[in-house]
Amino acid sequence: MGTIEDVKERIDIVDLVSQYVALKKAGRGYTALCPFHSERTASFHVDPSRQTWHCFGACGTGGDIFRFIMKKDGVEFRDALHTLAERAGVALDQRRDPVEDAHRARLYEINEAAAAFFHSTLLESDAAHAARAYLEERRLADSSVERFQLGYAPNTWEALLQHLAARGFDAKDVRNAGLAVEGDRGAYDRFRHRLMFPIRDDRGRIAGFGGRILPGDALGAGDVHAKYVNTAQSPIFDKGSLLYALDLAKDAIRAQGAVIVEGYMDAIAAHEHGFANVVASMGTALTERQVTLLKRYTRSLTLALDADAAGSEATLRGVEVVAGAVDRESTPQVDWRGVIRQQETLAADIRVLTMPAGRDPDETIRADPDRWRVLVTEARPVLDHLFETTASRHDLSSPRERSEVATQLLPLVAAVGDRVVQSHYLQRLARIVQVDEQMLRLDLRRARSAAAPRRPASTGPGELDIARVVNPLVHDAREEFCLALLFRYPELRAEGLDITPELFAQSENRALFDAWLEWSDEGESFEASLAPDLRPQFERVVNLDLPSFDDDALARALRSTIGRIEQQRLRLAKRASVAVIADLAAAGGAQIAERALAAWRSGGHDAHGPEDEADPAAAFVEDMEAGLKVHQQLLEQQRGTGHPAR
Ligand code: CTP
Ligand code: MN
Repeated sequence: MGTIEDVKERIDIVDLVSQYVALKKAGRGYTALCPFHSERTASFHVDPSRQTWHCFGACGTGGDIFRFIMKKDGVEFRDALHTLAERAGVALDQRRDPVEDAHRARLYEINEAAAAFFHSTLLESDAAHAARAYLEERRLADSSVERFQLGYAPNTWEALLQHLAARGFDAKDVRNAGLAVEGDRGAYDRFRHRLMFPIRDDRGRIAGFGGRILPGDALGAGDVHAKYVNTAQSPIFDKGSLLYALDLAKDAIRAQGAVIVEGYMDAIAAHEHGFANVVASMGTALTERQVTLLKRYTRSLTLALDADAAGSEATLRGVEVVAGAVDRESTPQVDWRGVIRQQETLAADIRVLTMPAGRDPDETIRADPDRWRVLVTEARPVLDHLFETTASRHDLSSPRERSEVATQLLPLVAAVGDRVVQSHYLQRLARIVQVDEQMLRLDLRRARSAAAPRRPASTGPGELDIARVVNPLVHDAREEFCLALLFRYPELRAEGLDITPELFAQSENRALFDAWLEWSDEGESFEASLAPDLRPQFERVVNLDLPSFDDDALARALRSTIGRIEQQRLRLAKRASVAVIADLAAAGGAQIAERALAAWRSGGHDAHGPEDEADPAAAFVEDMEAGLKVHQQLLEQQRGTGHPAR
């Protein structure tokens, strides 16, 4: 069974972060524009030797891989852990919480009951005639309506709530399932006058619904006018972890590989015509979790993209595309680098099927199923596709445009893991842009170092024992020692309550400490109060070998450990800030040296001109001044006392 440490061992911070921002080598680490706020100069730093990141700009915060995901996705430690565990292919210990299990089971039950209600309403109710007419217009077979259990949500405020109440589900349950909304005058149905698509997980359980607007209702802004409304996020519904129709497609996918379309209607049309290996990503950019799901059945994935999306720029796109849903109203964009990385990290084989302009799979399949068959066989490996579209968009007789092609494609080639495959594309790129392959190879190395595989730093002697036997990148000995003291010695509780949670840079330690702060020592034991995910880390910490302490030594040990953690943190922050500043100041290096020299000559007295507070160079000069002053003092001491300074 996997644990938090397995996740940390498998995911490299540079790898992770470089999926969302373009990292640039700077000193021992990397800098970038901060993905969490908009800025023009890079104040975001990644330290591979510590596996940490830090933003010195508006965020003023940092942390490890978990905190990065927590911040990026706006989620709790638990969710970040599960996201990264899935990505790392680590199955976390699922010793489940029985209360939570029961809660989830109830949500599935409610969804099942709701689906049955919507379905019978569609088939039987007079009120559903518009919905039935629409399905006919879309030429949907009755067998599909049955198979996908399509439904109709009537145009009232509480038909579903009442129906479910009669079956023993109260409004709170229905709200928890994301099917009702709390208003001023109580709960009301979320879905009204919509065509309903139950969304099942790979095991066939209904996780949520998509509700399509019906003709006659104006499309537009706001929930009422949205083309689709989805179940609100719930403990069982997370769009990015689901693929529509996967429960029906599993066997076919095992045999033929998966084809991924966007819409419910597309997937249904495909299944109706015997293309049973088709699933729908439901309009969001394909997530890593979705790819991981599919990888249980196949490595061969074909993305059916509409012509615009397939032709979208092969540039390095930022976090907004990967993280969020594709905005349907704007030009479709695909995070190609993300796709290639998914292909590499997940060892999948991803192909691109380009839809004819202006046609979606639903229309294509219904017009001519054989055409679909041909399109699927003609799908090309994602890099071939990108080479062709990128080359065709540029005038290759122009050196400037050739250079642009190289700039766009090289990072994608750099992301390829297999050297033979990579070499193939490198040769091809060299031919297209008419540059010597060896030159490109040099650039490639540079591009690749932004995603260097992780090499654990070696541990020096003199560290605590546990640091020698475990990977120091995975465990912070001091933090764990500090927690061990708190967990083992109840008499330290009062002192412990004064520690700021930010002391713990390792997210799992921070999560343990947060839980300990919240835990009341009157009720159940701390361990029993913990979420199952955190228990392995709790166990290792609480079982650490500790020396025996008398009362005094105990408090001192706690304080000195806290002190050391703080010092260490300052040192690391310092190192990172120097790297960021040095990087920013690289251009003005000579000038800075001059100013520092002036400061040195004046003995640090009149060092400051009217520098701009925000000028990174000024900060750098300040740092140097401080260092020089110390140095000067030492020299003076040495002269005065005759002792060698060190
Ligand atoms: N989608 C969504 N919310 C929206 C728009 C789209 O969740 N406001 C998701 C749905 O899962 C939808 C998919 O994106 O199925 C594809 O969108 P689109 O192509 O617009 O819809 P289709 O399902 O193809 O519907 P139709 O053919 O009826 O236009
Ligand atoms: Mn469609």
